[in-house]
Amino acid sequence: MANLKVNIYGMEFSNPVMTAAGPGAKDGDLCIEAVKGGAGGLCTKTISVLPADVPRPCMGLTNSGFLNTELWSELPKEQWIKEEYQKAKSAGVPVIVSMGYTADDIEKVAPLVKPYADAVELSTHYVGTDVAPIVNALKAAKSALDCPVFMKMSPHTDIQTIAKAVEEAGADGLVMINSFGPCMAIDVNTGYPIMGSKTGYGWLSGAPIRPLAIRCIYEASQVVNIPIIGVGGVTCGRDVAEMMMAGASAVQVCTEAILRGPGVYGKIAKELNEFLDEHGYSDVNEIKGLAHKKVNDREFRTHTVVPEVDQDKCIKCKKCKASCVYEAIEVGETLEIDKDKCFGCGLCVTRCPKGALTISYK
Ligand SMILES: Cc1cc2nc3c(=O)[nH]c(=O)nc-3n(C[C@H](O)[C@H](O)[C@H](O)COP(=O)(O)O)c2cc1C
Repeated sequence: MANLKVNIYGMEFSNPVMTAAGPGAKDGDLCIEAVKGGAGGLCTKTISVLPADVPRPCMGLTNSGFLNTELWSELPKEQWIKEEYQKAKSAGVPVIVSMGYTADDIEKVAPLVKPYADAVELSTHYVGTDVAPIVNALKAAKSALDCPVFMKMSPHTDIQTIAKAVEEAGADGLVMINSFGPCMAIDVNTGYPIMGSKTGYGWLSGAPIRPLAIRCIYEASQVVNIPIIGVGGVTCGRDVAEMMMAGASAVQVCTEAILRGPGVYGKIAKELNEFLDEHGYSDVNEIKGLAHKKVNDREFRTHTVVPEVDQDKCIKCKKCKASCVYEAIEVGETLEIDKDKCFGCGLCVTRCPKGALTISYK
């Protein structure tokens, strides 16, 4: 059993998997359920000065990701202060309070959440892509609060410029990424956009945005020294490992918890533990930032390196052969790769469900 505990500014998370600001933490009761389901920490649904008037339909699953057009909490801030945060706190894990958006909004909301927040997260989603209003919102939070202030970044912004600017302006950490977009999906039975927003557009989340999140976390952690909490497309323990290898100190899960319920946090944490054990890591913190070291240890190449085959692991499912556009693979009694035809593209390695194919990255 590997150590799964992570510590960020004295907040001790029993495992690095927490809720994200979203439906899975939409009120105090769901926060309690999330912790019962194994979440190592809580980040609550974003609140602002006024409750959100959410257009509907506001959530939909497509065959290539999840769309939403939720804004922030539809509950008034007064209800969060009176009831919801106390319930969330009673769950006994660190509570990160999400709030938005402009400096004016933050000045009004921050003093109210102060008694409940172990840290706060400021959503920059509706603040635009310029640095100045984002930094102003941060400064408003810093002057009202004495807990750590995390800035949640949206992927449609210039990640490195904003990450550096908010670190210089005193941000204690980053949370990245928010959902991506705008995007659109149409119900072909009716011709209507599936989202009820005025434009019909929504924001994409879930597994399809994970490579985007990984790149953003990787890029931000090249230019800042403050901790990063990763979010975007985490579905299983290996995804957490990937995000931490990109540079995250912990992760949040939103869409997967909407689809699978509050028990998902503990399941993901358990899979993470299994992954660490299988790979000989005794502490989850060991893998943080690993990809930054590996990238320098890699050979850039434009010649073919043929994958290695472990015949014992091959189950002859032929997925590798089906997607080999170079026609280099034959699967009979054994799996054979024609060295003259193989282009070394690597696709077969990622198609194999059993790890029977490996390629050298060096
Ligand atoms: C239905 C829905 C509502 C969301 N509401 C918020 C919100 O209130 N505040 C916020 O910062 N992010 C919000 N998000 C974004 C998530 O916190 C998260 O950044 C994004 O969905 C990527 O993570 P995921 O792929 O695990 O869902 C919402 C996402 C969804 C799907």
